[in-house]
Amino acid sequence: MKQVKTRLARSLSDKLGVEVSEQDIERPEPEHGDFAYPVMKAASELGENPRQLADEVSKEMQDLEMVDSVNVAGPGYLNFHLKRNKFAESVFQSFEKERFGLEPGDRKVLIEFSAPNLAKPMHIGHVRNNCLGDSLQRIFRFLDYDVTSENYIGDWGTKHGQVIYAFRKYGSQEAFEENPMEHMYHLYVKLHDEGDEEDRRRAREWSRKIEDGDEEALELWKMFREATIRHNEEEYERMGIEFDRVTGESVVAEDAQEIIQEGLEEGIFDEDEDGSVYVEFEDEQYPNTVVKRDDGSTLYISRDVANVRKREREGFDLNMYVVASEQNLHFQQVFEVARRFGYTDIENEHISYGMLQLPGETMSSSEGNIIRLSSMLDKAREKAAEIEGHEVDNAEEVGLGAIKYANLSVTRSKDITFEWSDVLDFEGDSGPYLQYTNVRAKSILQEAEKTPELAGELDEEEYRLVRQLSEFPERIRAAADAREPAKIANFLSELCEEFNSFYHSCQVIGAGENTERRRLKVVKEFVKVSNQGLELLGIESLDEM
Ligand code: ARG
Repeated sequence: MKQVKTRLARSLSDKLGVEVSEQDIERPEPEHGDFAYPVMKAASELGENPRQLADEVSKEMQDLEMVDSVNVAGPGYLNFHLKRNKFAESVFQSFEKERFGLEPGDRKVLIEFSAPNLAKPMHIGHVRNNCLGDSLQRIFRFLDYDVTSENYIGDWGTKHGQVIYAFRKYGSQEAFEENPMEHMYHLYVKLHDEGDEEDRRRAREWSRKIEDGDEEALELWKMFREATIRHNEEEYERMGIEFDRVTGESVVAEDAQEIIQEGLEEGIFDEDEDGSVYVEFEDEQYPNTVVKRDDGSTLYISRDVANVRKREREGFDLNMYVVASEQNLHFQQVFEVARRFGYTDIENEHISYGMLQLPGETMSSSEGNIIRLSSMLDKAREKAAEIEGHEVDNAEEVGLGAIKYANLSVTRSKDITFEWSDVLDFEGDSGPYLQYTNVRAKSILQEAEKTPELAGELDEEEYRLVRQLSEFPERIRAAADAREPAKIANFLSELCEEFNSFYHSCQVIGAGENTERRRLKVVKEFVKVSNQGLELLGIESLDEM
């Protein structure tokens, strides 16, 4: 709750004569107060006894407009209790404002995520990636950053000769047209299982041909690329995800050659005896890495360096990559090389995350036994439909909500082990629980005939919910700053718990004139926050369940 925090910070600065900022104001446990300020740091700056200082300041803060009482606790905590209705009014007013009263973002931001490879279906790894990347784009857009989301397809490099070679050896146009992704993937797996040394050599020749611009090679490559993108589009649509643009490694392949030339001239890269080019990092900060092969082809890393330059030229201030933690080293190397080239008008960030695992199932795409994104979504829908007592119509949305929440509620850096019974538990810390609570609150509003408004004094239970609601804007801010949708997901889960405890102890409809209006107002604000929170996670809020 910005305004209140700001006001408190300002008065504290005045009274203490030291700088107090919003961030210094804490949210204590409800029984201690609404806001707290530890004076210990200020006391040591001023050379005073913290407890005494707290006592003095507390007296002067008593008469602030919104403050009901201030007490001193522990080694020097000031605990503020606010006037309930005044505080609630100011919270609800800020909820009327754009961005729930938060400052607008002022940077041009690129968010790259998903980035699947050519001719391969998306798998379980992309599930977590897509959830995170999409939620981040939603959060940054909500805050009015100038956001471009980009899907950077892995469409260039030596692997792709394999599909072409395999298509010419085992494939058919008919089977391809029937079901492009299945066919391409089948070819890839077949070559992997049955191919010998000779096949591998010939596949490499086709990779070479793509790089050299051979007409047949490029035509097939293009056909596979388009089919991959078209296939994935359906899966993004199913997940409710949109990109502003689809690019790929091929887009920067030529730039990468330029970069290698320039890097050699400027001594950023070195040439090996065999003609390959590599980069060496000072003090063995990172392992040396090849940026151009002896056959002249560029590598993944060189294309990524070229891409930083491209995005810098496009005017992006912030360049975020949502990519799994296996690539931590890769991005450290890319960013270091980009720094040496002097691409410093853009800030690069790797938004790294841990693994998503289904217990008992392993995955290796070359063996063809990957857990596909689509089969995971199918399974979620099936399982959601089996849950007793809710409309089968919504199984798709509920299943998807379950998957998204499970992926977003865990801190990025941690691995996730996925248990269907947990993620679909209506009473647990789950997506369906959030969706269900949202529906429950909306149905109260639908039933209501009175106008929601703050009539009469908020009681303890109502106020607890208001207090919790008031934290929403600062949680969004924190989620954006840490690139961590979990901060919103966890907030919503706590909020729903609070709402349900309110729901069970407070009758709304028929509670008596003022009480009913007041409670309806609190429910209405809850719905507003819960709708917006779900939206930021990319989880659909439903009309019934
Ligand atoms: N296509 C890559 C893969 O599947 C991920 C690309 C990540 N983005 C990047 N700019 N390197 O591993």
